[in-house]
Amino acid sequence: MRFQAAALSALFLESAASYDFSDMAKSILPAQKLAKRENTTDIPLPINVEASQYWDGADGPWSSFPLQVGTPAQDIRVFVSTNGYTTWTVKPLGCQGMAGSISGCEESRGEFFLTNTSLTWVPNSIFQLGLPNEMALGLDDEANYGFDTVTLGWQGSGGPSVQHSTIANMGYYQFWLGTFGLNPQPANFTTYTDPQPSFMTQLKRNNTIPSLSWGYTAGNQYLYGSLVLGGYDQSKFEPTNLTMPFGADVSRDLLVGVQSIKTGNAGLSNSSDAFYALIDSTVAYLYLPESVCTAFENAFGLVYDEYYQYYLVNDTMHTSLLALNKSVTFTLGQSTSGGQTTEITLPYAAFDLEIAFPYVANSTRYFPLKRAANDTQYTLGRTFLQEAYVVADYERRNFTVAPCVWEQNSASEIRTIFSPDSKFSFGGKSSGISGGAIAGIVIGVLAIIAILAGALWFMRRKKQQKKYAAVELEAKSLAAAQTPSGPSSPMKEDPHAGVNTPTGGELDGSRQVHEIAGPSKPNAAEMDAPWRGELDAAGGHHEFYGKLPQNTFEMEGNNEPIFEMDATATQLHELEPDTRRQSWDSGDDRGDEKRYLQMQGY
Ligand SMILES: *[C@@H]1O[C@H](CO)[C@@H](O)[C@H](O)[C@H]1NC(C)=O
Ligand SMILES: *[C@@H]1O[C@H](CO)[C@@H](O)[C@H](O)[C@H]1NC(C)=O
Ligand SMILES: *[C@@H]1O[C@H](CO)[C@@H](O)[C@H](O)[C@H]1NC(C)=O
Ligand SMILES: *[C@@H]1O[C@H](CO)[C@@H](O)[C@H](O)[C@H]1NC(C)=O
Ligand SMILES: *[C@@H]1O[C@H](CO)[C@@H](O)[C@H](O)[C@H]1NC(C)=O
Ligand SMILES: *[C@@H]1O[C@H](CO)[C@@H](O)[C@H](O)[C@H]1NC(C)=O
Ligand SMILES: *[C@@H]1O[C@H](CO)[C@@H](O)[C@H](O)[C@H]1NC(C)=O
Ligand SMILES: *[C@@H]1O[C@H](CO)[C@@H](O)[C@H](O)[C@H]1NC(C)=O
Ligand SMILES: *[C@@H]1O[C@H](CO)[C@@H](O)[C@H](O)[C@H]1NC(C)=O
Ligand SMILES: *[C@@H]1O[C@H](CO)[C@@H](O)[C@H](O)[C@H]1NC(C)=O
Ligand SMILES: *[C@@H]1O[C@H](CO)[C@@H](O)[C@H](O)[C@H]1NC(C)=O
Repeated sequence: MRFQAAALSALFLESAASYDFSDMAKSILPAQKLAKRENTTDIPLPINVEASQYWDGADGPWSSFPLQVGTPAQDIRVFVSTNGYTTWTVKPLGCQGMAGSISGCEESRGEFFLTNTSLTWVPNSIFQLGLPNEMALGLDDEANYGFDTVTLGWQGSGGPSVQHSTIANMGYYQFWLGTFGLNPQPANFTTYTDPQPSFMTQLKRNNTIPSLSWGYTAGNQYLYGSLVLGGYDQSKFEPTNLTMPFGADVSRDLLVGVQSIKTGNAGLSNSSDAFYALIDSTVAYLYLPESVCTAFENAFGLVYDEYYQYYLVNDTMHTSLLALNKSVTFTLGQSTSGGQTTEITLPYAAFDLEIAFPYVANSTRYFPLKRAANDTQYTLGRTFLQEAYVVADYERRNFTVAPCVWEQNSASEIRTIFSPDSKFSFGGKSSGISGGAIAGIVIGVLAIIAILAGALWFMRRKKQQKKYAAVELEAKSLAAAQTPSGPSSPMKEDPHAGVNTPTGGELDGSRQVHEIAGPSKPNAAEMDAPWRGELDAAGGHHEFYGKLPQNTFEMEGNNEPIFEMDATATQLHELEPDTRRQSWDSGDDRGDEKRYLQMQGY
């Protein structure tokens, strides 16, 4: 695997390095280790978490993510929960009873977390999983709660790690795989007086990520999901102007107005029946108003199975749905009407999924739509996140939903989201550079910028002169009237042409993107078992207050950095090769080493 990184340092403006990781088994960059040892005033880079490269789930297939739990580390696979704030794991009880006769049950549930073999497991007690939206959907379970080390990524990938992270160990069927919670809310246990910080909060506290934020898309049957902590991957979505404030209810922060739903020319939901829905990747389906479900039934010829309460699809229906090949477009806004909107289009392939035990007796195709009982149930689940990229910023309390761009060979473009209070380090006092040195550096930088700008201007002028000369030959008068056309947009500036640095800021050369890559893995075994059943409830029960009043997030305090300049300006990104290993691009070897210098201001 090739890994390229470009870095702009205060002294040298630009230096680029290319690392070959083929024999280093995906480790964190050396520069990252350096950065970690330095004072906490260094702003860390976002962490790009690679998917597990498995397709998992009893109602998918869905792209899962690798997690290590306990000591020694146990590898499990989980789904990302945009709503959850703890890590849910599966215990061996989850493959007993009815599930016991499924061959490969443990594998199909993403592997167990055996608390009894972990040296660092600290048991707490038995609580409900207690996520408010899931409870509203009738999905709740009891689980053994405790604390243990949780590390993102496969073993040896050097992913971020949190000791004493809150873990639920569950045995029931509501959630077939475990989940990894992205929400920074703390967990409040009646057995502990202090709120227990979430994984994200702990990463932010120990300065492993630049802010309490993430960018995520669930991926679909053809391309793996993508998760960035402390930033987002610009290559995965089309930019949109729509930014939405978090919902007033802390447990429903990713609330969007669904202004309309359309398939072709047919409206499935009109402005008169627009509604609010929660984006929540914890669940797989779209939970929509009954009138909208009826419109879907008419448009797609779906038939509701009253017994299983799913839209099951038999082979004849599947053939006609494939022939129809209808896509569905959601128009979303801050509210249910007006304002900026964004459109997310799901092709029929996003609905062409399979459901298996424990949800139905025999595996069958289905359409991932559920009838919501009332407006607290309206949810856009993982199905929606196959084609939507969400960027959530818990410090500014806003988020963005944008249509995904699925380009098989596109390289990631990781962008940092800075804390609102963070400032850029520019040879600050903490690193022992005197004022004189800073002045020297500033002058040096300005001089280099001036030289490069001059060179650029000179080259442009030459080009234009050539052009003019050519034009003059044909029509002298026209050429005389023509003024030189303005430069292209700053973001489109040729990355090789020079430096496009706003003068207000400087970059920290030590920043690197953390990269966690997963090795290629075979698909999870397909599951087929002829029963449907439930396990008996077990154990005691304590109250677990999952919900907190608004604005009680554990936020990272200002870490009193000593800086010379404000965080108005620049951000550097490097290119990473696409590490996804699709069958159709595995042979692809992009030899050209491109370097991008990208600017972004906050
Ligand atoms: C960071 O710098 C401050 C002041 O220079 C110092 O007190 C503190 O111990 C340093 N922290 C670390 C983690 O090095
Ligand atoms: C841990 O628990 C599992 C299932 O409950 C059991 O099979 C296994 O033997 C236990 N391991 C140890 C070391 O106690
Ligand atoms: C953050 O905490 C983890 C363990 O919880 C530790 O390995 C890591 O070095 C810490 N990072 C920093 C920057 O302190
Ligand atoms: C975003 O806003 C700009 C300026 O208002 C406009 O030119 C652009 O088309 C908008 N983009 C989208 C995706 O709406
Ligand atoms: C939306 O409006 C169209 C015509 O205006 C109508 O045919 C359709 O039934 C409406 N759909 C819903 C879900 O109300
Ligand atoms: C498939 O489902 C449709 C709708 O429920 C039904 O009319 C049809 O008979 C079914 N076909 C088969 C082969 O079961
Ligand atoms: C279905 O439609 C999409 C565009 O909406 C197209 O890309 C795809 O090839 C079509 N599939 C089939 C089987 O026609
Ligand atoms: C499930 O499949 C088995 C055999 O494949 C069949 O005997 C059984 O009747 C099926 N069950 C249902 C509920 O369709
Ligand atoms: C919504 O419906 C669910 C399931 O029927 C029910 O449990 C819940 O109380 C209802 N909520 C409201 C606010 O009516
Ligand atoms: C949040 O708001 C800020 C300032 O209004 C904006 O710059 C940023 O893009 C927004 N973030 C998201 C994720 O929408
Ligand atoms: C969470 O814990 C804190 C401190 O123990 C307490 O003040 C707060 O009321 C708890 N939150 C809920 C929702 O019970």
